[in-house]
Amino acid sequence: MENCILICYYLVINTKLESMKIFSGIRPTGDIHIGNYIGSLKRWVEIQDEEDCIFCVVDWHAITTPYEAKTLQKNIFDLATTYLAAGIDPNKCTYFVQSQVKEHAELAWLLGTTIPVGELQRMTQFKDKSLKHKDNITAGLLNYPILMAADILLYNAEAVPIGKDQKQHLELTRDTAERFNSKYGNTFVIPEPIIPEQGATIMSLSDPEKKMSKSDNGKGSISLFEDPDSIMTKLMSATTDSDKDIRFDAENKKGISNLLTIYSVFSKKSVKDIENEFSGKGYGDFKKATAELLIESLRPIREKKKEYEKNPDYIWSELEKGANKARKIAEETMKKARVNMGLK
Ligand code: TYM
Repeated sequence: MENCILICYYLVINTKLESMKIFSGIRPTGDIHIGNYIGSLKRWVEIQDEEDCIFCVVDWHAITTPYEAKTLQKNIFDLATTYLAAGIDPNKCTYFVQSQVKEHAELAWLLGTTIPVGELQRMTQFKDKSLKHKDNITAGLLNYPILMAADILLYNAEAVPIGKDQKQHLELTRDTAERFNSKYGNTFVIPEPIIPEQGATIMSLSDPEKKMSKSDNGKGSISLFEDPDSIMTKLMSATTDSDKDIRFDAENKKGISNLLTIYSVFSKKSVKDIENEFSGKGYGDFKKATAELLIESLRPIREKKKEYEKNPDYIWSELEKGANKARKIAEETMKKARVNMGLK
């Protein structure tokens, strides 16, 4: 009996030791869409049991494009509530708001002194957002990937679950860590991206050539909290093609392939099985079935969010506890980074 307890204890400790350090975040810029959910949040929920996870509401990232100061706290609260409604459990992971841990800004400053400006100017997101906000291209927007690198490197993250659009920022993070380590001595862990095999980029429903994006709150994007009628309307008017077959072909049938991906993720059925199930049926039938599946799959998240919203004290107190936990790790990394750079 005693031996058995010892073995169990050893296994628990060992499993914990072997778990991977994970960091990820989402910007609080309004309701998140099913692309954000499939590309990141859903994966976070799946891995929080086994891995050592830190999930952050990255509010300093949200102020790099024009925003309303009056609604920022509401957006932070909404996103923090969304994490829990989607299944994040603050007892299993560290959950906090970025601006509550000042080390993110300090490390970003230090890292900024090592990153050539040309690398930042080459970032696709910077180029896209600069085009969108021509009159407001701030240093903050250019420096965005430095802050993201700081987020990840502060916590010695070994892996970062993200959608495909953030891969370039992760590569910049890796290059930054490697450059820093070789110049100032071993300081940072080099993180790997975790990009879902299915749904790495969910495309816009109205224009399947473009990714689904938060700024597209028209017909192209479905919020995690979209009301059922609106889900049905948007799905029924989703852009497809003039063909009839419900068949996955990411090159020539982008719209239908996107819907097949969404259906597959939420039904947990393979694309092949779905193709067979809908063989001989029309696009209208498939769009309706996808809408119904989405409505049912998102219902529990919507209901849980309403419950959590009734208890803001709980949300803010869990975020504070999380920030205290995160700060301890961040302070340790900062000490090392400062000393290695010759600072006190
Ligand atoms: P954000 O807030 O734009 O998006 C949050 C996550 O959603 C993913 N995503 C998508 N995945 C699939 N299909 C889509 N259409 C789609 N659109 C967005 C994004 O890849 C992301 O994983 N810079 C980050 C936030 C951030 C961060 C970090 C992430 C700041 N610091 C540190 C990881 C680690 C961003 O803008 O995410």
